[in-house]
Amino acid sequence: MLALITGGTKGIGKEMAISLSKRGYDLILVSRTDTGFDDIKAKCMTKVSFYSYDLSIEEENYRLLDETKDLDIDIFIANAGYGDIGRINKTDTKKEVNMIKLNDISTFILTKEFLKRFIDKNKGRVLITASAAAFAVAPYMNIYYSTKAFVYSMAHGYYRELKDMKSKAKISVLCPGPVKTGFEERANAKFTIHSLKAEYVGKYAIKKMLKGKFLIIPGFKIKLGHFFAHFVPKRMISKILRKQAEIKE
Ligand SMILES: NC(=O)c1ccc[n+]([C@@H]2O[C@H](COP(=O)([O-])OP(=O)(O)OC[C@H]3O[C@@H](n4cnc5c(N)ncnc54)[C@H](OP(=O)(O)O)[C@@H]3O)[C@@H](O)[C@H]2O)c1
Repeated sequence: MLALITGGTKGIGKEMAISLSKRGYDLILVSRTDTGFDDIKAKCMTKVSFYSYDLSIEEENYRLLDETKDLDIDIFIANAGYGDIGRINKTDTKKEVNMIKLNDISTFILTKEFLKRFIDKNKGRVLITASAAAFAVAPYMNIYYSTKAFVYSMAHGYYRELKDMKSKAKISVLCPGPVKTGFEERANAKFTIHSLKAEYVGKYAIKKMLKGKFLIIPGFKIKLGHFFAHFVPKRMISKILRKQAEIKE
């Protein structure tokens, strides 16, 4: 059994990797740097490989697909991503474009191509790490929220297509709220609301994905938020969420 995880070297991806290894999966972890890789290897009993790719570069996604085309991968997890916070006149447009390329373009290319492989084999699972941000709209982090709304929406569409074709290939989408990882540092933010532990979120996501659950929401508060988001007008949600994180300036 073999799983490939983008962004599998740190944070939520790292914990997913450890959880899958405990269940007997060999792993391919993909990220730009191998920071954290030795630690993961030490914690895993199965074979763990590291592939270095910058997935915000479109071509690198096709190279990764080419490098893995002859491997019998059972699980693909599109997890690499990051956020950015700040006022419209302070945020770096290039950083946001790069974020759209990683969070959306890379997730789309790899998800679609792995799903095609899995449909052909009539087996396999894809898990996309979106975010609770996908349910909401928010100022100061709105480009990040929009990237997550895109992959969340895409996952729903593919879920229905797989059902319609009665494929045994499956897709799930993970939507956590704040999680204690390297996310805040890269986003230049500090959460003002309680963060879950990455270990809990990673384990929970793998357990639910393997049970075939489509929408995976760790934590009671975020589940509740998801429920109420159906009834509250978007302008009110964006007002509530404007203080979700402190902007470091
Ligand atoms: N933490 C939260 O509060 C939270 C909440 C909801 C959703 N999420 C989502 O969870 C996912 C994982 O984030 P995290 O919180 O675990 O953050 P993290 O600790 O910063 O981990 C991010 C992972 O992605 C890799 N990565 C970053 N840029 C990459 C690139 N251009 N190409 C390839 N790999 C890249 C990183 O490795 P390198 O830096 O070495 O490339 C690292 O392995 C993201 O999609 C994030 O949006 C996070």
